[in-house]
Formats: sequence, C-alpha cells, structure tokens
Amino acid sequence: MATTSRTTIIAVTNHKGGVGKTSTCINLATAFARRGLTVLVCDLDGQANASLVIGKLHPSKVQVTIREVLLSGTPEVLTEAIHTDTNLEGVHLIYGSIRLLKIENDLRARVRPAEVLADKIKYLNDIYDIILIDCPPALNLLTHNALAASDYYLIPQPTGDQFGLYGMEDLIGTVSDIKAANPKLKLLGVLMMQHDNRKLVCKTMADTLRSKYSPVFEQTISHSTGVQQANMLKTSVIDLDRNNKVAKEYSKLSKEIISMIGLNDLNQISNEDDEDEEEAHSS
Ligand SMILES: Nc1ncnc2c1ncn2[C@@H]1O[C@H](COP(=O)(O)OP(=O)(O)O)[C@@H](O)[C@H]1O
Ligand SMILES: [Mg+2]
Repeated sequence: MATTSRTTIIAVTNHKGGVGKTSTCINLATAFARRGLTVLVCDLDGQANASLVIGKLHPSKVQVTIREVLLSGTPEVLTEAIHTDTNLEGVHLIYGSIRLLKIENDLRARVRPAEVLADKIKYLNDIYDIILIDCPPALNLLTHNALAASDYYLIPQPTGDQFGLYGMEDLIGTVSDIKAANPKLKLLGVLMMQHDNRKLVCKTMADTLRSKYSPVFEQTISHSTGVQQANMLKTSVIDLDRNNKVAKEYSKLSKEIISMIGLNDLNQISNEDDEDEEEAHSS
C-alpha cells in the first residue's frame, strides 16, 4: 500500500469529444500503476468507453456502476461498484453506464446537485493514491460533479486543430463556478495531444496554450496508431508495446504528474523505462 496520507483525484475533462480524455485515463492509469501507485478509474461517461477497454465485462452487463453509486451511494454500494480484476494490471474500475445519460433529472432533485459524487466517493479517501475520473464530452451536471469531487483537472487538448480552443473559456468559467463548492480544485495541466512540433499549426497552438494557460505539461503526446490498436485490444498502449512512442510519453507524463503533486514514485521498473527514453533522445 502506498505511503500517501490521502487520495489525489484528477478529473480528465474537455467538453469536446475525441480529444483523448479516455485514452489519457487508460494510459495514465497504467503508467501510475506501473510506478507502484494504487489507481482507480471512475468512468463518468455514458458512452462508457473507458469501461469497454479497462473492464473485463461489457458495461451493459454490470449491475452496479457509477450510476448506482450516484443514485444510492451507500458505502456498501460503492464497494460493490469497484472492480479489482480488470484488463489493466493494478488498475481498479468503477464502470460507466449508458443509463448515465438519463441521470441528470435525479441529480437535479438533490440539495446540492453538483456535489453528489464528492459526497459518495469520500469513503475512498486514503484507499487509493490516485483516482482518475473520465468525464463525458459535455459541460453537463456529470462534469460538474467530477470537478466538484476532484483535487485537480487535466485538460487534453489536440494541437492540430485550429478551432480547438473554441469553448475552452466555457470550461474555465465552469471551473470558477465549481470552485465555490470545491475551493481546492486546481488545473493540473493542459496536455497537448497528437502534438507534432514540426507542424506549424501545432507549434502555433502550443505557443497560444503556453501564453494563456498555466501549467501546460512539459510532456506532450504524439499521434500513434498504437492508441487505437490498444483500445481495440482492450489494453493500454503501454501494455501493448512499452517501446511505442506514446507509451513512453505517457510514462514520462505520469512521472511529471507524480512530482507535481508530491507523490512518491515507488517502482524502479518504470524508472528503467524513463532511462531507455532518455537514452533514445540523446542518441
Ligand atoms: N495519441 C493518439 N494518437 C492517435 N490516436 C489517438 C491518440 N489519442 C487518442 N486517439 C484516438 O482518438 C479517438 C478519440 O480518443 P478518446 O481518448 O476516445 O477521446 P475522448 O475520450 O476525449 O472522446 C480514439 O479513436 C482514440 O483511439
Ligand atoms: Mg471518452
């Protein structure tokens, strides 16, 4: 068990779809677990894409998902919702559910609709080192719940899309609203996705991001067909091929995050991966 005194909860969020939220959850979870940290992925997206990759069961077959945690949410239901045997070694999962798409009215009937998740998962404090919440592609009540329950939010942002920043201010505005309920919420970082520094559009977007937002992660994520391949094979790109460029980038990103949030990197094996990577850069 890890040495931290409390759990760090990170919402992976961007209200645009297809920016790499789910892939980032899957690969960061793997990278953190390989560094010896205890990790839970909480799938808060009705599309349940993270569950389709990480879970051994089809989400439609799972009775107790994050929806049931939100709706009933006794500690017993929470315990039942956690699946410890998944496709990613050392990564636990609370499944998402297609039925999440209809949960908003139930949540709105609560006294503090955006704080239901925070209230339900507080029992996990100290059990995991890291909880990653995969958010839906919308600034909806589920995303508000993720932000209200989290210590940090991480924004994956493709740099090859010149319109990519459209709407970012809405996300930042939502965060300001949520901060009233959750003052500890901080930007962990903007993660430049499918980034290629040789392309002018990517370089321009990188400059814009660095001038407007802080922090932007030092580590960027490249394009690799290995990501799609891994998703299809229900694994992470790190587990599929640790020498894949993106696998190494997520591993290094996990290291950057661990040092940002002051956790201990417990596993020497991943450090060897980092050394491989450093050698590759210097050769
Ligand atoms: N670094 C990457 N290189 C290539 N394809 C990627 C990369 N990251 C994500 N993808 C692909 O882009 C699509 C959207 O990614 P996903 O993680 O599902 O985004 P989101 O959760 O934001 O909708 C998926 O098909 C995924 O395989
Ligand atoms: Mg997704």
